[in-house]
Amino acid sequence: MRVLFIGGGRITGTILKELETSIERAYIYDKMNVNHLKDRYHFVKILKDFNIPNDVECVVEAASIEAVKEYSEEVLKSGKDYVILSSGAFANIDFLTAFMELLETSEGRVFIPSGAIGGLDVVVALSKWIESIDLITRKSPQSLGCSVEEETEIFSGSVLEAIERFPKNINVAVTLALAAKSFEKVRVKIIASPGLKFNEHNLRILSRMGEYEFILRNKPLENQRTSLLAALSTVATLRRLKEKFVVGV
Ligand SMILES: NC(=O)c1ccc[n+]([C@@H]2O[C@H](COP(=O)([O-])OP(=O)(O)OC[C@H]3O[C@@H](n4cnc5c(N)ncnc54)[C@H](O)[C@@H]3O)[C@@H](O)[C@H]2O)c1
Repeated sequence: MRVLFIGGGRITGTILKELETSIERAYIYDKMNVNHLKDRYHFVKILKDFNIPNDVECVVEAASIEAVKEYSEEVLKSGKDYVILSSGAFANIDFLTAFMELLETSEGRVFIPSGAIGGLDVVVALSKWIESIDLITRKSPQSLGCSVEEETEIFSGSVLEAIERFPKNINVAVTLALAAKSFEKVRVKIIASPGLKFNEHNLRILSRMGEYEFILRNKPLENQRTSLLAALSTVATLRRLKEKFVVGV
């Protein structure tokens, strides 16, 4: 597997560790110094400027919403498959429209991993019949950039408002809206919860075909806000690109 990673932070670090034996070459482009990854893995090559090497099979964005906006045009024009973690970029409708137009003529495919949540298979299958989705997210105050003594609801509103206020924390809400093909049907609550051991997402889906509830309690990576599951779901996506027998899609 030959992959270009945009962003060499916690998610990329975890993916490299998990795929150590199956990655042939990992190029990494990051605006910060991430040379430690080159020292740790012999197959890593750090790019000084953003470009897409010819031998790359797939590009993984694990950087930021800004990075998706900055580099997507070049990735789509390259025709490489493209895995995007910072799905929050698609909450900007002008960007979403321009991206979809470019994708029409691209030879590559775009994959949005389920990231830190689950149940997206149900949302995708039922998108036509979904009436509402409520997402209640609990994270530590530190990871949400606030300070509270007891459990406190710090946000309640739409997906677009949520990602605008918490661009690093609530990509999952945008992923859900993309799966449901509706930003309007998804409502978000964010709760700061001191002493929380896990990042928690509580998902309630009401549809004409049934009602579903998922509770995910994710072990966080060192920065507290990123769930280990987000990295592992991307590993699963990358493996799936090569599989001929695919389960759970
Ligand atoms: N979809 C999901 O469920 C989900 C879950 C967790 C995290 N995420 C998102 O994935 C992304 C990566 O998360 P992380 O925990 O690895 O973050 P991180 O902060 O540990 O690492 C991000 C790295 O990307 C680099 N970067 C950011 N913007 C860049 C740009 N414009 N150009 C080049 N490099 C850039 C940073 O310098 C940093 O090294 C974040 O946007 C995060 O919000 C999505």
